[in-house]
Amino acid sequence: MREHWARGLAGLTGVAIVLLSIAFAIVQNSGAPAPGRTRVALEAVPDEPPIARGRAVYREQSCSRCHSIAGEGNPRSPLDTVGDEYTRDELRQWIIAGDDIRLVLSQRVIDAKQPYARIPPGDLEALISFLAALRELE
Ligand code: HEC
Repeated sequence: MREHWARGLAGLTGVAIVLLSIAFAIVQNSGAPAPGRTRVALEAVPDEPPIARGRAVYREQSCSRCHSIAGEGNPRSPLDTVGDEYTRDELRQWIIAGDDIRLVLSQRVIDAKQPYARIPPGDLEALISFLAALRELE
């Protein structure tokens, strides 16, 4: 009997954790940028060759269907300061919906991001360099 209860309690705790992480993901992803998050001025992003190529890849792949930079694109998910927030490896994970971040993305978004894993490696690195250059302005 006691074992039965313990198992029930463990199950409930598991459900609570899952619900909390979903709530957290929703809060994290909700629309407007957090207060104090300044928008990046694209003109300030350097135009060295890999970054310029990355900017082109960003356009070619239509990332702005779901993302915005400097107010351009879908305002739901701004990328203005991702260079401050993530390492290159983390940016790669976000682009291709890698194993590390799958849990926080919906299946629809995972399906949309999956083809990015087939971006030629040089272009993917260039895209990462472009995103890494998106930083909050002083
Ligand atoms: C179908 C919609 C969709 C497309 C297309 C898409 N993404 Fe995303 N992306 C998302 C969602 C949803 C998230 C979850 C986090 C959020 O909402 O900011 C995300 C997260 C990210 C993040 C982390 C953002 C943060 O602030 O935590 C980066 C970086 C990113 N995507 C890059 C890209 C790039 C580059 C492309 C194009 C190659 C792209 N994404 C295409 C939907 C999309």
